[in-house]
Amino acid sequence: MKNLFITGGAGFIGSNFIRFILETEKSVRIFNLDALTYAGSTENLNDLPDPERHIFIMGDICNRTLLDQLLIDNKIDWIVHFAAETHVDRSILGPDQFIRTNINGTFTLLEAAKDYWIKTGKNDTFRFHHISSDEVFGSLGPEDPPWTETCSYAPNSPYAASKAAGDHLVRAYGSTYGLPYLLTNCSNNYGPRQFPEKLIPLMILSALEGKPLPIYGDGKQIREWLYVEDHCKAVWKVLQQSPIGESYNIGGNNQPTNLEIVRILCTILDELVPDSAFIPHQQLISFVSDRPGHDRRYALETQKIKDRIGWQPDESLVSGLNKTVQWYLSHPGWVESIKKQQDYQGWLSRNYQQRSA
Ligand code: NAD
Ligand code: DAU
Repeated sequence: MKNLFITGGAGFIGSNFIRFILETEKSVRIFNLDALTYAGSTENLNDLPDPERHIFIMGDICNRTLLDQLLIDNKIDWIVHFAAETHVDRSILGPDQFIRTNINGTFTLLEAAKDYWIKTGKNDTFRFHHISSDEVFGSLGPEDPPWTETCSYAPNSPYAASKAAGDHLVRAYGSTYGLPYLLTNCSNNYGPRQFPEKLIPLMILSALEGKPLPIYGDGKQIREWLYVEDHCKAVWKVLQQSPIGESYNIGGNNQPTNLEIVRILCTILDELVPDSAFIPHQQLISFVSDRPGHDRRYALETQKIKDRIGWQPDESLVSGLNKTVQWYLSHPGWVESIKKQQDYQGWLSRNYQQRSA
């Protein structure tokens, strides 16, 4: 049995990753450390396959004593570090928590991992896999080539800057102390269990209630969308196959505008909820004032992971969006429990009331 330590496993991608590992790998035991911030929920960990191989620990990645104890007591073989503050708009209205978790928390985890790795004899199969974002690279113009792994970092939001700082620390621990790390920079994820502050679940749930669908600015910003299970497969393959000290871009190979994404979602909802009072759902689209410092376009060159690791996405954008809408429609219990969180309604007021039409 291998012992896999995951941070942030009660969040969107972490919980999908845990589900994927428990389903596909029979000889892995998971220790999941999560602070259960507003973005994490034990609802995301209901009905896990083979649940006795998943051990949940509520706690903070900034707690060094707890980290030391968990790594030693559970003879950890690999760490996959998902925990972070992740919403760009929240980082604009309140960056402090992003600095604490994404920089200080990553630093604390690196220190604990380094000391554990040294104490246990510098095992050469130990890995520290850091999960990062394409946002660290900044913003592209319409004709710019996609980012490769060697492009310079140029983050624009406090969120992106805090992720970039975390990435730099990880690389530094590899160069300076020899910590066997891996780093992956992924594009925008979507799929089941994403907190409905992010574009896709927010639009699905708002459209179902006949609420306005708030498009920032002109809606022509471009993101590269990846179905979450494809991200999970990529991370696992990199962890199993890659030499240490490498970074990989993980992307969905598509370039829709935000407006196109929202229109596709509206069309899917028109088909799947034919008796809705709000058909056509596109009538709900409403343009609101833009996100400050809004990145215009993200695009990733993913040849490296394709050639060296043999990964490419299985899901197309339309099939993935269909699956996602169906998941939200068939999980009203999950939706209700997340919407009831006090912080959620408060967040919607804080972020959207200040935006002019
Ligand atoms: P999320 O916001 O859904 O979940 C984050 C999880 O981390 C939550 O469960 C939260 O409780 C936990 N957490 C936060 N602070 C913590 C702390 N101090 N200690 C312990 N746990 C803490 O995030 P996500 O969308 O699942 O993203 C996971 C990772 O993937 C992040 O590192 C993010 O930067 C990266 N990423 C996300 C995307 C995306 O589109 N969502 C794309 C690329 C990379
Ligand atoms: O690119 C990877 C990143 O993708 C991750 O690192 C982040 O954790 C993740 O949150 C995501 O960041 P974005 O800012 O791209 O995602 P978000 O869903 O917040 O927004 C997607 C696009 O939609 C962006 O251009 C802003 C726009 N948008 C978003 C919201 C919430 C709107 O137009 N209206 C909205 O209400």
